[in-house]
Amino acid sequence: MSRSTIPLLCSFLILFASSASAFNITKILGQYSDYSTFNELLSKSGLASDINSRGTITLLAVPNGAVGDLTSKSDDVLKRVLATHVVLDYYDPMKLQKMKDKTAKMTTMFQQSGKAAYDQGFLNVTAKDGSFVFGSAVVGAQRDSKLEKSVMNQPYNISILGISQPIVTPGLDGTMAPISAPPPKAHTPKKSPVAEAPEEAEAPAEEEAEAPAEEAEAPAPSQDAPSSAPDADTPPADQAPPPSSATKLSVSFGLFVVLATIVVV
Ligand SMILES: *[C@@H]1O[C@H](CO)[C@@H](O)[C@H](O)[C@H]1NC(C)=O
Ligand SMILES: *[C@@H]1O[C@H](CO)[C@@H](O)[C@H](O)[C@H]1NC(C)=O
Ligand SMILES: *[C@@H]1O[C@H](CO)[C@@H](O)[C@H](O)[C@H]1NC(C)=O
Repeated sequence: MSRSTIPLLCSFLILFASSASAFNITKILGQYSDYSTFNELLSKSGLASDINSRGTITLLAVPNGAVGDLTSKSDDVLKRVLATHVVLDYYDPMKLQKMKDKTAKMTTMFQQSGKAAYDQGFLNVTAKDGSFVFGSAVVGAQRDSKLEKSVMNQPYNISILGISQPIVTPGLDGTMAPISAPPPKAHTPKKSPVAEAPEEAEAPAEEEAEAPAEEAEAPAPSQDAPSSAPDADTPPADQAPPPSSATKLSVSFGLFVVLATIVVV
């Protein structure tokens, strides 16, 4: 009894772990009232559920008093802007301290949307005056979102860093679009080790749906053919039985294994 329940339990846990989302950003951020507006915007734009599907992120959160005109943006623009506040890697203050040359280029969720041109999907963080300053990696972008505090972290899955003001990425807002004219050239992200291909499908979960087709295999019928061949002479016929019974044995053993795994899974 216990021998069969343990594997059963294991497969349940594996199934559960792979289908359940890694965390609930709404719930986590909900514990910090200074960020309640930012939290509402994450839900309103639909970005919260995208965040929950990731296993490792750093969220750059803006406190209520500094949210500014984010609240008046359309959901579409808002989602783009907020996606540039989600870094696809784990960074807490300690890791920021250890940055080589005191600067780093970070890949954000906006890079994965496939809508990013130039460096719109990347951030630049640089040590400055004893703290750290975040900004869009786009050339000429303003970079003055200062690190204010570490809100919470859970190494190495989620870190929430409080920043002084929203990150402004040129061209995300439909109104002024300096970047729309030239075709989005495929930029090879030389400096960022974390960079992922922009055209990559968003949800890793979708891949799993394709798998289960393989299981149905019918091994039995083809094996019977040799033994039932009627044109055989007497001598060969004598030799036929031993191998055929041997194959039958292995076939039934194979069936048993297949059945056993089906029962266990
Ligand atoms: C935490 O991150 C690791 C490495 O990225 C990942 O394998 C793991 O599934 C994550 N855990 C959760 C609860 O998401
Ligand atoms: C996440 O947490 C919020 C607030 O606690 C809750 O309303 C929501 O249903 C949760 N979402 C998921 C996917 O569990
Ligand atoms: C970030 O920006 C600063 C200032 O423009 C620059 O010196 C630094 O090289 C940039 N960092 C990266 C990793 O590109």
